[in-house]
Parts: sequence; C-alpha cells; structure tokens
Amino acid sequence: MALETDFIVIGSGVAGLRAAIEIAQSGASVTVLTKDKTSESNTEYAQGGVAVVLSDDDNAELHEGDTLVAGAGLCDQKAVETLVNEGTKYIKELIDWGTEFDREGGKLVFTKEAAHSRRRILHAHGDSTGAEFVRSLIAKATHEKTINLTPFANTESLIVNDGRCVGVRFLDPVLRAPREIFAKGVVMCTGGAGQLYQHTTNPPVATGDGMAMAYFAGAEMADMEFVQFHPTALNLENAPRFLLSEAMRGEGGLLKNEYGERFMPRYDDRLELAPRDIVSRSIVAEMRRTGTRTVYLDMTAMDEKFLKDRFPKIYETCRVYGLNIATDLLPVSPASHYCMGGIRSDLWGRSTLPGLYAAGEVTCTGVHGANRLASNSLLEGLVFGARAGEAALSDSSKSQVSSHRSKTEKRETLDIRHGTALSTAVKKRVKRIMWERVGILRDRATLVRASSEFDQIAAANLSPSSRNFVTLAQLVTRAALWREESRGGHYRTDFPEQKENWRTHSIQQRDTEIGSSQQINFDTARAV
Ligand code: FAD
Ligand code: SIN
Repeated sequence: MALETDFIVIGSGVAGLRAAIEIAQSGASVTVLTKDKTSESNTEYAQGGVAVVLSDDDNAELHEGDTLVAGAGLCDQKAVETLVNEGTKYIKELIDWGTEFDREGGKLVFTKEAAHSRRRILHAHGDSTGAEFVRSLIAKATHEKTINLTPFANTESLIVNDGRCVGVRFLDPVLRAPREIFAKGVVMCTGGAGQLYQHTTNPPVATGDGMAMAYFAGAEMADMEFVQFHPTALNLENAPRFLLSEAMRGEGGLLKNEYGERFMPRYDDRLELAPRDIVSRSIVAEMRRTGTRTVYLDMTAMDEKFLKDRFPKIYETCRVYGLNIATDLLPVSPASHYCMGGIRSDLWGRSTLPGLYAAGEVTCTGVHGANRLASNSLLEGLVFGARAGEAALSDSSKSQVSSHRSKTEKRETLDIRHGTALSTAVKKRVKRIMWERVGILRDRATLVRASSEFDQIAAANLSPSSRNFVTLAQLVTRAALWREESRGGHYRTDFPEQKENWRTHSIQQRDTEIGSSQQINFDTARAV
C-alpha cells in the first residue's frame, strides 16, 4: 500500500534535519527517509567548524569576499550574500536550540582556516563540530511531533507525475521491500558523492544517490566537474582516509616531504594555508618530485596538552593507529572531500523539476562556485535547508498530496532481480577509475577512457543503486571533459590556464547534450 505524508525529506544531515524542522514548525507532517542510522552523514564527521560572521573584527562583506575569491569566478553573488547575511541568524538560533560551541571565559572561540581573512570558524568539542550539530538538530527534530524519522530507508528513485515530483520509491526497512510514498513536496538532502573516489574523507553513505535520482527524474545538474580534494587525509595502509583537519594547519601545522623539508614555499606564497586545490596539487607535485606516495603533517612544535585539548578526536584516532600527533610526523595525502556541483537550485532550494526541492551538498546553489571555502558547508546546510523547507511549504499551501497515477506517467519499474544494493564490484571499479582518471589532475585522453569504461559498466543489467552510482561518475567525467580550462577544483593538465570565456556553468539534463549557461539564474523560482 502506498503511503502519504505532507512532505518528504530525504537525508538526515544538517540540511535535511534543518529542512524538516522548518516544515514541522508549521504543523505539517514530514517523513524523513534516511539510508543508515539517523546520525550517519557527512555532517556527523565535520571537524574544523562552521564559518560565521560573529566576531568583533569581522563583517559580512569580508566573508562574502573570501567566498567569492575561493569560488574562482563562478559563485552566484546573491547566493553568497544570502549565505553570509542569514548565516549569523541561523547559527544564533542553533545556539538557542542547545548547540554548544567552544568558548573561553564564556566567549566564543574562533579559529582560522585557509583562504579566510579573519578568524571566523566556530568549533565544538575541539574537532567534533559536525557531531554537535547532529546531536542538537536530532534533539530538536525529535521534539517536533510531526516529524517521522525513518532510518535505514534507502531511497532509490523519484516518482514524477505529469512533470511534477510527487513522491519517492524507497526500501521499507520493516517490510524489507520496495515501497512508494507520496507528498506535496520532496526535499532532497542526500549530501555529496565523495565515495565516487577510491580515496575519500567521506563515510560510506556519501554515494551521491540524490544527484542521480534527480538527474533520472529530469532535473538539471550544474557544475558536476568541480570536486574538492582535501589535502590532508591520513595515509596509512589498511586505515580509512581519516581527515586531519585544516584547522591543524590553521593552528600552525607544517607540511614536510620525505626528507623532512617544508615544501609549500616552493609552490605558493600562502604556504600551508593556500586554497585547498593548490595545496592538494602541490602535494601531488612534491610526491612525484621525490618519488614517494605520502607527505607529512608536522605538529611537533606544539604542546601535547594543547593538541589533545584542541583536537581530541584526531588525537585519539591517530593513537589507535599508533601515532602521537604531538611527537610523530603524520603521513597524509589528498582525498576526495566535497562536491561543488549538484542539483541546480535557486535561492529557495527549488530545483528545475516542479515539486522537487534540494539543500546542502547535493545542490549547486552557486554558493561555492568552482571551489568551496573551508567551513562554509555546514552553514550552507543550515541556511538553505531552512529556506528549502520554507519554500516547499509556501509553494504547496493550496495543493493536495496526489498519489493517483497519470496515464502519461513514464514509470520506471524497479528491477530487483539482481538486488537493489550497490554492487561491491561496480563500486570498486568505478572508484578506481574515478581516482586514476577523473581525479586531482585530468586530461582529455584519460577522461575519454574513463567515459568509455563507464559506458561499458552501465550497459550491464545493474541494480538501481549501481546504476545511480555509475551515472553519477559519468556526469562528473563528461563535465570534466567538456570544460577545457583549469579553475578551482577542476584541473586539466592539457588546459592548465583559467580562461575568461569559460566563466560559465556546465548544465546536464537527461536526454540532452551537455551545455553551458553563462548566467544561470540561480534566484529564479522554478519548482512551484
Ligand atoms: P550529509 O550530512 O552528508 O547528509 C546526507 C544524508 O542523506 C545522510 O543522512 C545520508 O545517510 C542520507 N542519504 C544519502 N543517500 C540516501 C538515500 N539514497 N536514501 C536515503 N538517505 C540517503 N564542512 C564544514 O562546513 N565544516 C567542516 O569542518 C567540515 N568538515 C568535514 C569533515 C569531513 C570528514 C567531511 C566528510 C566533510 C566535512 N565538511 C565540513 C563538509 C560537510 O560536512 C558537508 O558538506 C555537509 O555536512 C553536508 O551536509 P548535508 O546535510 O548536505 O549532507
Ligand atoms: C576540515 O576540518 O579541514 C574540513 C573543513 C571543511 O571541509 O570545510
């Protein structure tokens, strides 16, 4: 039997939880479908903190300016203004809801990260900012009577009726069978796709499902070529690529090569706090130059007690792997970290598909342009999660949940003969190809090879989740092939310069050739 609810939110990271709370505060019912346990998300693992204009020597213009510079000419100015101007209000609200940021003598403490002109990063429990967001948002959501949190409910496709998104198909965790749920609006908050790559800081849930679902349903995808690689993931054999926060470099950590030499002066005047794409490429260049597979983060000039208090999670995790961050050099290398591209969304989270809204890392709102400024994404999830919830509510004030079937509806049947899960073999192969050919350094020949390998994989009879995964890999690859310049997170060794005539966004839509849009109108309402 099909289910009905007023609104569906997919995903329970910062964006999904904030959207659900916004909707529930109006009294409407909202079902939050989430793939794993409710707390599992990229948000849960966020370390460094959240950038917000709250300190005495800061202002919105400075935060906006830093964000625009990082975005390398592709930010949407109105989206950035919305982020920095409204961010302060939403962080204050979060504090009112019980979020505990670190303080000294009662005053909030701000740290510095790369490409920020001020110390404006708030953090919680030293390096567990995301976990504190999740704790306080789940507590708030649990108090809202109309929110139905449904963990372990993997969503696989959107239901589109007469050109409008009216519901989703998901695997019912109790019945262990595919099920449909209908609503007045669907808010996609499934986060990023770091798992597309062999080496990533992201947890296993970050497979980019929402982007693929939206693409198959007909929504436009923007700027998929822009992937951010974090420079300092722990690089130990048989250990996950655990993030060593940029805040460690913000506090004075140095990058050294195999011979103990500090190498960033060779590559950029901003040294260890140059933008992430530059530090990541410098590390790759240094590893090639020295013929090694790792470089080192050196925190040994700092006091052990300071490090243990400032980075408790990192301190403990490294200890598990036999490293003392105060005395050992920490082996690091870059890993995929964040997707700047995603579902093209306006300032209110409206996608180009009526009935479908989106917020957080799954979107491309124009906030990040070609490269995200560190610690801007928790803020983005809060601000645009709330706005997407508000828009979904106001757009649907007069509409009903429609679970009737249209005669013209193109129904994709869920073929579950081969299971619905992401196949380990497909995942492994796609991740390796993405890392080797669509990674930090790209060129035409390797991208063409990657694309044809993905076509081969996609030709097989795949489970829905495997099909979503390989499609997403294709979207990133095609956009990377299309963009014949280097900008932000996208670096082509065959086109190493940034070019003014490429100051444009890539747009991909199902059954349409990849194209560009010089002036994406990110603030145009569409999904009503
Ligand atoms: P997520 O938090 O990733 O949530 C996505 C949700 O969707 C999850 O609940 C997931 O289970 C669910 N989901 C996914 N697929 C499906 C599906 N098919 N069906 C149902 N549910 C699904 N940003 C900062 O601003 N500051 C930081 O300090 C920072 N540190 C970071 C450290 C790490 C290690 C990582 C990985 C990221 C960090 N980031 C940081 C980035 C930031 O955490 C994310 O961009 C942000 O939290 C994304 O929030 P979100 O709500 O969009 O997605
Ligand atoms: C970090 O702590 O280095 C991650 C911050 C971010 O990705 O914004």
